[in-house]
Amino acid sequence: MTTTPTTHSSPAHAVKPALVIDNVDKVFDPAKQAVLKSVSLSVQAGEFLAIVGPSGCGKTTLLRIIQGLDTATSGQVSLPTQSGKSPRLSYVFQRSSLLPWYTVRKNVAFGLSLRSGRDIYDSRSARDRAVDELLELTGLSQYADYLPSQISGGMQQRANVARALAVRPDVLLLDEPFSALDALTRERLQIDVASILSSIRTTAVLVTHDIRESVFMADRVAIMSAHPGMVKQIVDIDQPRPRTEEFQHSPQLAEIERFIWGCLHPSNQH
Ligand SMILES: Nc1ncnc2c1ncn2[C@@H]1O[C@H](COP(=O)(O)OP(=O)(O)O)[C@@H](O)[C@H]1O
Ligand SMILES: [Mg+2]
Repeated sequence: MTTTPTTHSSPAHAVKPALVIDNVDKVFDPAKQAVLKSVSLSVQAGEFLAIVGPSGCGKTTLLRIIQGLDTATSGQVSLPTQSGKSPRLSYVFQRSSLLPWYTVRKNVAFGLSLRSGRDIYDSRSARDRAVDELLELTGLSQYADYLPSQISGGMQQRANVARALAVRPDVLLLDEPFSALDALTRERLQIDVASILSSIRTTAVLVTHDIRESVFMADRVAIMSAHPGMVKQIVDIDQPRPRTEEFQHSPQLAEIERFIWGCLHPSNQH
């Protein structure tokens, strides 16, 4: 399995894929069932794909394979970039991964101080400006000089999102990023992060077990079953982005949520 940039010759009118997962299988233990089985998904540039499925269905494993932290047993992942350069990926985890001894601002800028991140902006001032803009966009400007331990869990996740975006990722991977937060904070972050990602047109893949979250945030929702982890169905969420707060509690959203719930619990359907 390789995670390499590829170029596709496609007609000019065709949408450009930013991520193609082709027939991926993952077996950890040959004596047991495959964790991922024949997973194929494609994400267009600027698109927001959510993958929803029960705990243990292989969501984190799939993200790790996309990121190159793990390898597929068979199948391919390709990340075609428009520039032809190596793809840049960022990851936001369920739990905050901020460095405790750095301020919020330094954490957000962290990836840009690494060798891999130094050339992303043309100059030091462009880099500082980008960090300031992200702090503003994520509502963290007034907390820029705080340490992670001095801000709330929701604010910490905002900082994790800002840090992930600072490196201008070709694809942003979000692994249950809001699931450790209380319900109200979670809803607020869903609204704000969805709005930020659509304003800067980031290609994003969110994995979650929260059906409502997947419907609220994504252009398409891939429904996964467990044992083995397979994509059962893909649902188009036919609503313009950015989504409104009204949509978050609308009958349309509830209807799609119910439909997906039914796909995940087929034996409970009447
Ligand atoms: N490194 C590993 N070695 C063996 N089994 C693993 C490993 N990582 C994950 N698994 C197994 O793969 C399955 C899917 O795990 P995971 O991808 O974490 O699911 P999810 O994120 O959907 O909850 C689980 O049964 C888990 O125990
Ligand atoms: Mg997981």
